[in-house]
Amino acid sequence: MQLPRCGASSAAVTIVASQITFLVLFYSNPSGFSLKRAAVDDDRSWSGGIGVHIANLSRDFNYGLVRSYPGSAVSQIDAFPAYPDDPLVRQYSAEYWILGDLEAGSDASFARRVLDPDQADVVFVPFFAALSAEAQLRNGKGHFRHRKDNEDYERQKAVMEIVTSSSRWQRSGGRDHVFVLTDPMAMYHFRAEIANSILLVVDFGGWYMEDAKSSRNLSSPQPIYHTQVSLIKDVIVPYTHLLPTLALSQDNAVRTTLLYFKGARYRHRTGLVRDQLWSVLDGEPGVLLEEGFPNRTGQVQAVQGMRNSHFCLHPAGDTPSSCRLFDAVASLCIPVIVSDSIELPFEGMLDYTQFAIFVSVHDALLPKWLVRHLSSLSSKVRNQMRHNLASVQHHFEYENGFPGGRGAAIKDGAVNMIWRKVRSKLPGVREAIARDRRRPSNAQLPPARCQCI
Ligand SMILES: *[C@@H]1O[C@H](CO)[C@@H](O)[C@H](O)[C@H]1NC(C)=O
Ligand SMILES: *[C@@H]1O[C@H](CO)[C@@H](O)[C@H](O)[C@H]1NC(C)=O
Ligand SMILES: *[C@@H]1O[C@H](CO)[C@@H](O)[C@H](O)[C@H]1NC(C)=O
Repeated sequence: MQLPRCGASSAAVTIVASQITFLVLFYSNPSGFSLKRAAVDDDRSWSGGIGVHIANLSRDFNYGLVRSYPGSAVSQIDAFPAYPDDPLVRQYSAEYWILGDLEAGSDASFARRVLDPDQADVVFVPFFAALSAEAQLRNGKGHFRHRKDNEDYERQKAVMEIVTSSSRWQRSGGRDHVFVLTDPMAMYHFRAEIANSILLVVDFGGWYMEDAKSSRNLSSPQPIYHTQVSLIKDVIVPYTHLLPTLALSQDNAVRTTLLYFKGARYRHRTGLVRDQLWSVLDGEPGVLLEEGFPNRTGQVQAVQGMRNSHFCLHPAGDTPSSCRLFDAVASLCIPVIVSDSIELPFEGMLDYTQFAIFVSVHDALLPKWLVRHLSSLSSKVRNQMRHNLASVQHHFEYENGFPGGRGAAIKDGAVNMIWRKVRSKLPGVREAIARDRRRPSNAQLPPARCQCI
């Protein structure tokens, strides 16, 4: 199942222009930077929705896991307990909101729950894989990469046994099954087995084989390998934002800081870029860098920092790797994304250039370049971008306001956006299944090709 190298990571996304109506509001400003309103699909692409069958897993694999999560204060009889509050875990909660929406079976949701698997477009695997991984990392980190004494591994194995024994899986090779893997460590032991499935991931970082090696040496031409993931079949989903949403009408504070960044200076994966960027920006006028840890103290600091700043730095390197980007959106702080290859949620449906600034790693590391660039954007442009941010905030929102998360996802919110994206993958998935099925059993396959788009 190994895919050959795929060159640099694939950030470019095909835009299905016919499905998108841009509300265009062009204007220019002295710096030549023109903006239109952040794009939102028209209503036509909503019709029909997507038929989703929920694989028959016991509650032990989802809500039961929430109850047994270390430190959980949830009652044993609560059928729909709240997802853990711990920010390190909560950022991965997409799995919880997606299942809560399906369980509610609301007519207002894009995903229609279908009881007969043969009538469904896709099969959703209701395994809280992020929570399972995080529980193991808390209870027995040393065993995480091993199979022995690893409850997460046992759960993954049990899920795979149930799911792969269905006739639907056997017909499709799992291609029409949907797994939520927001945590890069989720389903760690069964990646090869689910490689063909539709994976909902925050980025492809957890799937890079060579990332650690190549990121240590920025000038190395060594490509990053995409082994089992592709924008053709997988869907990039947002982290859950952790900071409260600031509405435009409440945005009264004067933003005094030009550029804000809070986070760990050193990171394992994209450490070098971040560290260099820190050195370049430290002490620059209007720049506020804060070392921080995502606990309560850190959150209070981050709310202040993001709400008092025009721009929020997102030094991604190769992966988003944090919920910071979505916290910036919630705080109406214009994201400055330093990355040459980042994958972002809902591209083709949203136009990020209308509410975020993209900067190459090369430019960002030039002394004084970034501050000069950001300072050149007029207050008119900044205001327009902040308005645009306000208009896309809800697309990244998972919280549906229902106790236990069981209720219809908000219209145009993250869950419905995700299912729309999944639906857009279906023609390609069906084509792949048809090709698999007509292949003679003794066919000699060439290595699978990763078609980067
Ligand atoms: C789901 O699986 C359980 C066993 O775990 C079984 O008792 C039940 O009948 C199954 N339900 C359906 C609808 O297949
Ligand atoms: C980084 O990669 C370049 C190009 O392959 C090589 O010349 C250089 O020696 C490498 N540096 C380190 C520190 O490995
Ligand atoms: C948050 O983490 C920092 C750094 O580890 C620590 O100094 C601080 O006391 C922590 N705050 C809370 C509320 O745990």
